[in-house]
Amino acid sequence: MKVGFIQFRPLFGDKNGNLQRAIAFLEKADAELMVLPELFDTGYIFQSRKEALELSSPINESTSVTELKKICQDMNMAVVAGVAERDHDKVYNSAITILPDGSVTTYRKLHLFYKEKCWFEPGNIPIQIVEYREARIGMMICFDWIFPEMARSLALTGANLICHPSNLVLPHCQNAMITRCLENRVFAITCNRIGQEVRGQESFMFTGFSRIISPDGAVLCEGGRVKEEVGIVDINVRAAENKRITIFNDLFEDRRTEHYNL
Ligand code: ACM
Repeated sequence: MKVGFIQFRPLFGDKNGNLQRAIAFLEKADAELMVLPELFDTGYIFQSRKEALELSSPINESTSVTELKKICQDMNMAVVAGVAERDHDKVYNSAITILPDGSVTTYRKLHLFYKEKCWFEPGNIPIQIVEYREARIGMMICFDWIFPEMARSLALTGANLICHPSNLVLPHCQNAMITRCLENRVFAITCNRIGQEVRGQESFMFTGFSRIISPDGAVLCEGGRVKEEVGIVDINVRAAENKRITIFNDLFEDRRTEHYNL
């Protein structure tokens, strides 16, 4: 299955411009599944709840989602993207998986980073697996990486491919994702953004280095630190379903849950 990432630089607040750029990349992508960054159409540094409310949309009223659905249908492709999701007077930092049949599955970020806690509500819906061809897609967003429970929960729920839209600012995630893949024997696509965003007193330099990683920890494809880049690889996603490490060891069956204080 050909899967990939679109590492690009959204401009804050330019929803239509960011959408058009993402579409231009998607139209050229020869792949069955592509991942876009976290908050791909709004940008990252909100300055008030009001601003987050104004820039967010309910999933079923979002122009970005409608346009991405058209691309998925026309190109027979699935897309995973990070969006600001409005639900009445609340805003969630969400990821959606859109399939070629137009179905949309939403994940609301569970672990909010820094001032995201001021603008977004923490996720409040159960994690879901999206079945798509041979893939069983699990979504997580950016800072979720630092909680190993997240990737583990997705793997235990049946994910063989973790799609991970990101706006990374701390070091280490890209390397930590090797461990997340090894310890769960799953594939992962971390799609990070690049560039600097400055708003008021806040400034973030996003770290690029988007990666596609295999269940044995191999980096199959990697973007650079500063350039917009598309990465696509062909993976046998079913390989992630073999949790055997030796003839005596199975990654999931060997867990000693009665001894873990979680
Ligand atoms: C982050 O979770 N966007 C750092």
